[in-house]
Amino acid sequence: MNILILGSGGREHALAWATAQNPKCDKLVVAPGNAGIAELATCLPLDIEDGAAVVDLARAERIDFVIIGPEAPLAAGVADALREAGILTFGPSAAAAQLEASKAFTKEICDAARAPTARYAHFTDHAAARAYVQEQGAPIVIKADGLAAGKGVTVAMTEGEALAALDDMFSGSFGAAGAEVVIEEFMEGEEASFFVLCDGEEALPLGTAQDHKRVREGDTGPNTGGMGAYSPAPVMSEAVTERCMAEIVRPTLKEMAARGTPYQGVLFVGLMIENGAPRLVEYNARFGDPECQVLMMRLGAQAFDHIHAAAEGRLSEAKVHWAGDHAMTVVMAAKGYPGAYEKGTPITGVEALPETSRRMVFHAGTRRENGQLVSAGGRVLNVTARGESLQEARDAAYGMIEAIDWPEGFYRSDIGWRALG
Ligand code: AMP
Ligand code: GLY
Repeated sequence: MNILILGSGGREHALAWATAQNPKCDKLVVAPGNAGIAELATCLPLDIEDGAAVVDLARAERIDFVIIGPEAPLAAGVADALREAGILTFGPSAAAAQLEASKAFTKEICDAARAPTARYAHFTDHAAARAYVQEQGAPIVIKADGLAAGKGVTVAMTEGEALAALDDMFSGSFGAAGAEVVIEEFMEGEEASFFVLCDGEEALPLGTAQDHKRVREGDTGPNTGGMGAYSPAPVMSEAVTERCMAEIVRPTLKEMAARGTPYQGVLFVGLMIENGAPRLVEYNARFGDPECQVLMMRLGAQAFDHIHAAAEGRLSEAKVHWAGDHAMTVVMAAKGYPGAYEKGTPITGVEALPETSRRMVFHAGTRRENGQLVSAGGRVLNVTARGESLQEARDAAYGMIEAIDWPEGFYRSDIGWRALG
């Protein structure tokens, strides 16, 4: 099979790595890809949010199957364009991807599906939003309605912080994404991410993970796209997982199908768990990044079979084979991230590290300049390892980091601290 993966991050490197190992893969193209992906696939430049351009490239490369990595092409309707062109595609339609693209839409679906989530109110008017915050008090959570690259959320511990976040959003810091705001009840508990493959009707739990969204040690500092992750998430016991499927995931899929917008792709279920009861924090319409890296490390080549089965509507036949293992990924980011940072700084030592089914450095923002690996983004490398225990996976990942020389980079040294105790 000729396969095209859209995207250029660590998530797409991990997807490409798992796919390339599967005997069904004859040819693998990743667009636009990065320096790490280029080691195992053909990388081609492409505007991945332009549906017509994606269809043209897929035809020119005789692609049988397209896997869409990030949310932006999904929200832009690239999956719709590919399916209209008769090309088998993994990823939800623009209508179904509203589960990520609009927080207000997700809340409406939760209401209709009676799925447990935080109480909320939706505002387009600054003064009304301020009045609501003053009436509710803190802690309280302020969210920009649209896609804001994971940075449109303020968990405000004081009323002042909440009002400042509103000022920010209504003054246009998030562009169009801030013109509408969802204000939510603050939920206590432990967070986990749950990944479920969906084929429109059936749902297949693929695994759990926990990530660290804050930039600094001890989960402090500003939110990022994620500074590290591990799988499985200890808080996701079998009982919690079953409740989540029964109370949240299946009712959501049923509601989406009933509206004529069945959900096909991976559903990223962000959860808050308190006393064994899961509540939905958010949905995403794609794999988490860096959560995907630990899932792929644990699943290996079978991940592609399940993704393919989801796209072909065959999930009722699919079965995930889990080993009782653990994986961890540590993000190396450019100094300054998630604020301003430099690009083009040299990185050495990565090429000398082993690439095995238990150890991989997935690349996020990298490129090559005259053969030299250099940074090309905020999050740059995802140093990933698997072990019999989380401690073993952790020690292996941090051992690999020691061999990487990147003076302009930094990482958190405490990934997994909650689970490691
Ligand atoms: P989101 O982009 O919706 O995932 O929000 C980013 C982060 O904000 C989440 O991972 C949580 O840590 C936190 N968060 C979001 N909503 C809530 C909530 N209602 N209560 C507590 N924390 C929240
Ligand atoms: N790591 C969180 C996300 O991908 O949204």
